[in-house]
Amino acid sequence: MSECSGCASAAPDGSCSSATGCDKPGDDKLQKTLGRIKHKIVVMSGKGGVGKSTVAANIAVALSLAGKKVGLLDVDVHGPSIPRLLSLKGQKPHMGDQIMEPVPWSKNLSVMSLGFMLEDDRQAVIWRGPVKMGMIKQFVEDVMWGDLDFLIVDCPPGTGDEPLSTLQTLGPTAIAVIVTTPQGVAVDDVRRSVSFVGEVGNRVLGIVENMSGFACPDCGTIHNIFNSGGGEELATEAGVRFLGRIPLDPEVSTSGDEGFPFMKVHRDTATGKAMQAIIEPLLAFPE
Ligand SMILES: Nc1ncnc2c1ncn2[C@@H]1O[C@H](COP(=O)(O)OP(=O)(O)O)[C@@H](O)[C@H]1O
Ligand SMILES: [Mg+2]
Ligand SMILES: [Zn+2]
Repeated sequence: MSECSGCASAAPDGSCSSATGCDKPGDDKLQKTLGRIKHKIVVMSGKGGVGKSTVAANIAVALSLAGKKVGLLDVDVHGPSIPRLLSLKGQKPHMGDQIMEPVPWSKNLSVMSLGFMLEDDRQAVIWRGPVKMGMIKQFVEDVMWGDLDFLIVDCPPGTGDEPLSTLQTLGPTAIAVIVTTPQGVAVDDVRRSVSFVGEVGNRVLGIVENMSGFACPDCGTIHNIFNSGGGEELATEAGVRFLGRIPLDPEVSTSGDEGFPFMKVHRDTATGKAMQAIIEPLLAFPE
């Protein structure tokens, strides 16, 4: 066993019990993993039900279809929904000694979710802060993500333990995408999310306004049945970019329920184009 001055597997005598036999202090394993990931995108929202998981999954799929190597990490310990959205329910990641293989969705997209670890999806997970923190760190450093262009993280809603430890684990280069709905009530939540990200020391890439207008199945255009623009106003006010709006589209929820990602099948619809517009700034990131 090698001498170790403080990795997660360090014994009190300074020896290291980690499988890789780490010989450097602290978070070396984590840094090594992060060093192979070019861009880390954390998808957040002020509250649940705004379509955060849907947006995260479709961003990941669209980037992978554009030829990027993508990892999708679902850290929603209370309601992991990524396995269902991508028809990966019941899959189990291969486990090695202190290492897990993410579940492949395609050659370019691999997925990790707490949902893969639960015996059934009704199993409640009641974990306290420090345990969640450890779980999220493990999901980053103990998973063989390999070389990625993007790691997309689907966070639980709010500004609690999970978003905090996600940002802290990924470090200051991780950037946040905040999902909201057009309604005014959502605006305060978003404001809180934006300032939270700033307080932790990270940057907000921008705001996505989901369920904005209605994608009409009859005529194929988008009808603005309610006020839209809340997200855009908020972005201006908060000094962050407005990434675009996604209409309410019955096909989005059908595809979610049936486990085929919308962006794989409906890319050429008005809604598909709206989603594609949201990933354009990501595709423009330097290599
Ligand atoms: N643009 C949209 N059009 C129609 N339904 C949507 C849209 N976005 C999300 N949904 C539906 O709304 C529900 C909540 O979405 P979800 O992504 O699980 O939200 P969150 O992760 O924020 O809790 C799901 O049933 C999903 O299919
Ligand atoms: Mg969700
Ligand atoms: Zn119409």
